[in-house]
Amino acid sequence: MPDTNNEQALPVLTKSAFREDFRWGVSTAAYQIEGAHEAEGKGLSIWDVFSSRKGKIKQRHHGNQACDFFNRYPDDLQLMQSMAIPNFRFSLSWSRLLPQGTGLVNRHGVAYYDRLIDHCLELGITPWPTLYHWDLPQALEQKGGWTNRDIVGWFEEYAALAVKLYGDRVKNWMVLNEPMVFTGAGYFLGVHAPGRRGFGPFIPAVHHATLCQAAGGRVIKDFRPEAEVGTTFSCSHIEPLHQRERDIRAARRVDALLNRLFLEPALGLGYPLDELRFMRRLEKYMLPGDEERMAFDFDFIGVQNYTREVVKYAFWTPFLQANLVPARKRGVPYTLMNWEVYPESIYHILHQFNRYKGIRKLIVTENGAAFPDELKDGQVHDPERLCYLKRYLQQVQRAKQEGVKVQGYFVWSFVDNFEWAEGYDPRFGLVHVDFETQQRTIKSSGHWYRDFLQG
Ligand code: GAL
Repeated sequence: MPDTNNEQALPVLTKSAFREDFRWGVSTAAYQIEGAHEAEGKGLSIWDVFSSRKGKIKQRHHGNQACDFFNRYPDDLQLMQSMAIPNFRFSLSWSRLLPQGTGLVNRHGVAYYDRLIDHCLELGITPWPTLYHWDLPQALEQKGGWTNRDIVGWFEEYAALAVKLYGDRVKNWMVLNEPMVFTGAGYFLGVHAPGRRGFGPFIPAVHHATLCQAAGGRVIKDFRPEAEVGTTFSCSHIEPLHQRERDIRAARRVDALLNRLFLEPALGLGYPLDELRFMRRLEKYMLPGDEERMAFDFDFIGVQNYTREVVKYAFWTPFLQANLVPARKRGVPYTLMNWEVYPESIYHILHQFNRYKGIRKLIVTENGAAFPDELKDGQVHDPERLCYLKRYLQQVQRAKQEGVKVQGYFVWSFVDNFEWAEGYDPRFGLVHVDFETQQRTIKSSGHWYRDFLQG
């Protein structure tokens, strides 16, 4: 069995250990918080359509209203400022700006993000937009979505629009959010929008996302060479269940799939096909020049870590011949998402990414946990989340003190929000949201984060 937590001799968590230039923030995404899904000329996205389909989202929840951030952003930003949070990661909704994905621009959508960005700046909060956090315009999905190579051109048009509109005020950009998740869950497993399944859609989606990741970076730099451009990856420390050759090799394959598939081509290393033989059909979609097109020199890489994965060899699992052993079966602590609480995972993954020569710097663009919170007498006491955040941060500090070039940390999430196929039940926020009344209440973890940030 892999080690359980070994946290003796950890450094005491202190803000000053991270140094002055470290970026502290919170993260969100458009579909998960904005609501206003058809307001003011917005086009539908694949998530609007997917969550209206029966049986796709727990309890038939959807993001039509979500946190109503579209209307409530002035109050929410005020709250963020009161919590001493200096950096705000959010995403732009492609179909709010371009209802059909390309062509006609929705001036109301343009004005909304203008207001949002200006308001951040007025309050002294630095905006960190992500171009794509999973809400593809439905009009583009009807043309094949991520499986159609034309998406590279569509995405370049959208990225150029965004940087032309906001690049005068926005310095920090992220191109994609977790390509492994939106291609894997959306185009292979079918559990996320647009709900397509199998290798047929998955393989081209992977390749086109890889191309867009780099193309988006180039577009931003073309217009704004001074911009800081990153992109984000879901990543987990991977361990074999037993120190047995077949488990070790299975763990290597899972590592290649979950941690390396999209990162390495961006670094100019190509796809890790030696470990992932079954992904060789990617080559069918590669055109001459694609190896170079997939590479881009990002200013930072966004690390999004929640848990670790423990892997065992599985003869019957097609292609990968590996299974993840759930936390429940291992008798270890886990969150409402059934994800193991394992703070050292973030330490190991930071080191793993830090070993790539091509990475300039790392920013933890998401880390957080869902626990069953309760609002009682106007308060939300969430000691488990508070403890989770502290322990993970301690591991970030440990990595930094060992020389890992990590320069930022963003909590997922600012407010409770729409957790994709899981609906509203898993709450990740530092701030509790009553989805009936839209009332916000800072949780004890949020108070702790504020005190920590105030040093
Ligand atoms: C990430 C994703 C976020 C959020 C979080 C918690 O994969 O980028 O949108 O849902 O996980 O599950």
